[in-house]
Amino acid sequence: MNHPIDIAQQLLAIEQLVGADWYLPRNRNPLSEPTPAPGARAAGAAAAMAAAPQRRPLAPPPPPEPVEIPAELSPEGKASALAALNNDEVSSCAKCVLCQTRTQTVFGEGDPNADLVFVGEAPGADEDEQGKPFVGKGGQLLTKMITAMGLSREEVFIVNTLKCRPPGNRDPKRDELEACWSILTRQLQIIRPKVIVTLGNPSTRSLLQTQAGITKLRGTWQTLPDHAPGLGGTKVMPTFHPSFVTRCYTAEVRGQAWSDLQMVMEELGLKTPTPKKE
Ligand code: URA
Repeated sequence: MNHPIDIAQQLLAIEQLVGADWYLPRNRNPLSEPTPAPGARAAGAAAAMAAAPQRRPLAPPPPPEPVEIPAELSPEGKASALAALNNDEVSSCAKCVLCQTRTQTVFGEGDPNADLVFVGEAPGADEDEQGKPFVGKGGQLLTKMITAMGLSREEVFIVNTLKCRPPGNRDPKRDELEACWSILTRQLQIIRPKVIVTLGNPSTRSLLQTQAGITKLRGTWQTLPDHAPGLGGTKVMPTFHPSFVTRCYTAEVRGQAWSDLQMVMEELGLKTPTPKKE
């Protein structure tokens, strides 16, 4: 258990490092606040979610689908398997109506050999335009979260459940989730990360095949079901979607997201980074 002074020093160091205060209240030190009573955490987040504009109803999980199991690949093999999947199946995919309105597909990016994969929901307008995941406002916050963990975007892999933007950022439909499902599972089978962080409800519900919501599941270790051969048992940490954190930028929500990421850091043996001396 870290001493509170050590944690305070870590948080200050991260603030210097990433120039961000997403994990701290703007004017107060969360470490001096009383520990919430059992149950208050979920109640607080539920109140925060209720106060935030409700963007989307919950997406249903896609049904299980048998997928091929690639052999454990070398780092180079993983890179070329991902490139082949993108070129052969994703970039020209026409399995659902989203191909009619997208500018381009957004396959995902990062280190094909990453220990850590973040799974979001679907590209938005910025991602559709640039062809890269999480490059809009929510993406900027995700980048800060990754930096606070002592990593860079290039050292993790970032994907979405859907590879095409739903028009107007509407909810993904069931047939769209189903059409993209085998791509996501094959991406994960190729990368074989040690930990998957699901961002928000749709990716959490799809990958864990649960109807439980993010407020209940966040901050608790889950394991990937056997629905994806070769992936069963992979550790999953559900946390809030960065877009939710930007909309609901309270000390509590930021503190909860940071606490979830610290559990991931501990699992991966990552130390909180220290800023370089001027
Ligand atoms: N939201 C997502 O879930 N994914 C993105 O790539 C951008 C916003």
